[in-house]
Amino acid sequence: MNDLFLRALREEPVERIPVWIMRQAGRYLPQYRAVREKVDFLTLCRTPELAVEVTLQPVAILGVDAAILFSDILVPMLPVIPGIRFDPGPKIPEPLEHPSQIGDHDPEKEIPYVGESIRMLRRALRVPLIGFAGAPYTLATYTTDIRRLRREDAKKAREFLDRLALLTERYLLYQVDAGAQAIQIFDSWGQELPAAEFEALAAPGLRRLCAAVRARGVPVIYFARGPLRDVGATACGVDWTVDLAEARRRGPVQGNLAPDRLLSSPEDVARAARAMAEPVAGTGYVANLGHGILPETPVECAKAFVSTIHSIPCKR
Ligand code: CP3
Repeated sequence: MNDLFLRALREEPVERIPVWIMRQAGRYLPQYRAVREKVDFLTLCRTPELAVEVTLQPVAILGVDAAILFSDILVPMLPVIPGIRFDPGPKIPEPLEHPSQIGDHDPEKEIPYVGESIRMLRRALRVPLIGFAGAPYTLATYTTDIRRLRREDAKKAREFLDRLALLTERYLLYQVDAGAQAIQIFDSWGQELPAAEFEALAAPGLRRLCAAVRARGVPVIYFARGPLRDVGATACGVDWTVDLAEARRRGPVQGNLAPDRLLSSPEDVARAARAMAEPVAGTGYVANLGHGILPETPVECAKAFVSTIHSIPCKR
């Protein structure tokens, strides 16, 4: 069992740097496109045999040190908004008008394929499995007009986020109970909140989420674009605008190569990967991109990223 990734998050000794890639199962892989030719994206998410197959692809092809469940941040919203479509990004037929539309949902009953995929993956994998969810604010940007509510009705905005946080907490604990060994929270839009508004509106729900998962002994990575924000996670996932060494001084860190650096040549990727990782080589660091891998990425460049990280010596 390769548990480098979990040891790095616990700041225990590691012999080399663990690496995985956000959106590592996706359209840049011909093997993923072959599966997608046969079924649409939501069917893929809802069919455990297929979700497992594409989750395993990057582990076999790239040799990454962690797998991430193949799903989408909108999947736990399907029982709330059954008409969600993907083309290729999420399309919501009728955005939510009122927080009370987000009721009390039981993932075990309503989206059982998520737990089933996780249980099947744990039997198949020799690297840790990451479960995930969208941060409440990021979910709100896709499912309601949260930007208008922030301007016009801050109380209602807060109510939406509180309900989304509760739904997300249940969803994450469901994944942990099924066997997820780490959790990543994707806050792809949280950076658009000014610091004070982030504190008032988004941070309380995020702190509850992180605490609930960590109370089960499972590490949490909080990924956000833009400035580093403390929400009580085990580690921060950061993008290329953040200085890694500085972030590492504040705690375990994951990141942060700009995805477009993988559009060049394997030699250039190797140089960029070394420049990123050498200054922070050691435990408490997980190598990754600063956002999802781009569909036009050459597979050779993704492979060069992983193998270069694996070649960097770790100081103890
Ligand atoms: O990382 C992984 O390999 C696991 C799977 C995963 C997907 N989406 C699969 C996917 C994860 C972790 C996500 C997270 C996600 N989804 C986020 C947060 C991360 C980020 O990129 O900011 C967001 C904002 C979404 C919402 C979403 N879903 C968008 C914006 C899109 C379209 C973007 C695109 O890549 O075209 C999706 C669709 C989606 N989710 C695809 C995949 C592989 C492409 C669908 C296809 O195969 O046609």
